[in-house]
Amino acid sequence: MYTINDCQQIINKSLANLNLPEQPTNLYDPMRYVIALGGKRVRPALVLMGCNLFIDNVGVAVNPAIAVELFHNFTLMHDDIMDHSALRRNKPTVHTKWNENIGILSGDAMLIKAYAFLALCPPEKLVQMLAVFNKMAVEVCEGQQYDMDFESKADVSLEEYIHMIELKTAVLLSASLKIGAISAGASENDAGLLSDFGKNIGIAFQLQDDLLDVYGKLEHFGKQPGNDIVSNKKTFLLLNALKLASGERLNTLRHWIALKDFNRDEKINAIISIFNDLNIKDITQHEINSFYDLGLKSLEKVACPEERKESLVRFAEIMINRQN
Ligand code: IPE
Ligand code: IPE
Ligand code: MG
Ligand code: MG
Ligand code: MG
Repeated sequence: MYTINDCQQIINKSLANLNLPEQPTNLYDPMRYVIALGGKRVRPALVLMGCNLFIDNVGVAVNPAIAVELFHNFTLMHDDIMDHSALRRNKPTVHTKWNENIGILSGDAMLIKAYAFLALCPPEKLVQMLAVFNKMAVEVCEGQQYDMDFESKADVSLEEYIHMIELKTAVLLSASLKIGAISAGASENDAGLLSDFGKNIGIAFQLQDDLLDVYGKLEHFGKQPGNDIVSNKKTFLLLNALKLASGERLNTLRHWIALKDFNRDEKINAIISIFNDLNIKDITQHEINSFYDLGLKSLEKVACPEERKESLVRFAEIMINRQN
């Protein structure tokens, strides 16, 4: 049985041997840079753990695991441009260290490299792998577009928000588990149950990310807290505050959202203070726990020895309590 750490080590070893070309440096250096910065390697670990539920040899899932991690890193490079984020994994983002065009193109090349790794899977699995991967990849784009659209949309509902994070984040965790299950030759029913587990844990994962963007510490989180507040992201926190606030408090909230010219820290502090008054942190944590419970119910139904599920249960716990 492979632990989360074992899986992360396997992935990091493979990523260290990518052997990207030297030239042009402005295409490949940013790719090397982002990959070397690490990150939690959540998605490739899910591919390997999903596979290991059914078979011992997780080696068969390493190439698709690298594919999902490269895809994830591609989304981060482009997401950081779209979100104007200066820091990622405690270091300057690619477009800040180089420039936006370089971030776009090396992100594109990373996506192509992801497909190259996916194509290394056994030929009899390729059609199914591609179908799962392509469905996921276009849904992530849909989620990202909703996320951007919602910044300037006044009336976003909580349902719309959950749908948006399911697309931009949860489908990738879900597909990672499914790809692991397919690599292992698991039944369609089990692959589907794992997918549901991944979807719900993925929603909890993004809710936790939204929470850390407000309450996290830069040194753990590795991203600049407050970015979501500054750009009026319709996160679970802000939507609940808009729902619960009334009178003067609601006016203040709306004032900061509408204000075009403001001092960054002043806006962040004003909105956090409203979140605190309205108990938004507890409400978010409660929601995270609900999706966690829902996810575990699907995992329980997967037809494999119970002890094989331990790494995934442990993983889900770590994800919803993480500080980074
Ligand atoms: C960041 O993902 C993007 C989100 C979906 C919140 P991670 O938190 O997994 O980022 P890394 O790979 O560990 O840096
Ligand atoms: C992550 O959303 C979604 C994708 C990268 C596809 P965020 O914009 O919240 O991710 P971070 O916080 O920048 O990592
Ligand atoms: Mg974003
Ligand atoms: Mg972002
Ligand atoms: Mg975020």
